[in-house]
Amino acid sequence: MNLSISLTVNGQQRVIELDDPRTTLLDLLRERLDLTGTKKGCDRGQCGACTILADGKRINSCLALALSYDGADLVTIEGVANGDTLHPVQAAFIAHDGFQCGFCTPGQIMSAIGLIAEGQAGDDPERIREGLSGNLCRCGAYNGIVEAVLEAQAHSTGAKTRDAA
Ligand code: FES
Ligand code: FES
Repeated sequence: MNLSISLTVNGQQRVIELDDPRTTLLDLLRERLDLTGTKKGCDRGQCGACTILADGKRINSCLALALSYDGADLVTIEGVANGDTLHPVQAAFIAHDGFQCGFCTPGQIMSAIGLIAEGQAGDDPERIREGLSGNLCRCGAYNGIVEAVLEAQAHSTGAKTRDAA
């Protein structure tokens, strides 16, 4: 059985030999590629701390078998800033105090980026809460998170409008 997979991770092509066909993307990212920004909370699909984008869609990387993602384009929290310039969602989280301990924050940010890209966020706080309901935060930073998504969403809509003009 060929246990070699090829992935694009944060824009870089990686070819990885897997020792175990059951390796999850989360373990591969953290333990093999040293990308520890993606957090392991529950390791069973219930907390969202491990959220990344795979081919533009948000997934729980703890439930994703790496072998099934051969050829995929992955983005982790390490890949969203542009050099020293934060991604607008990262900047909005800071501006609105969208984190306290910060453990859930990478997953929240990745999920928020996915939500905005899906065009699901809108300007309705309840829809944002629903859209991020798979991401748990024990500190209860939810109000700041929703405000951050509202602001980032408004920027992204503005950017699209400007691009279209
Ligand atoms: S660590 Fe993946 S959902 Fe909790
Ligand atoms: S900021 Fe602490 S768990 Fe979310």
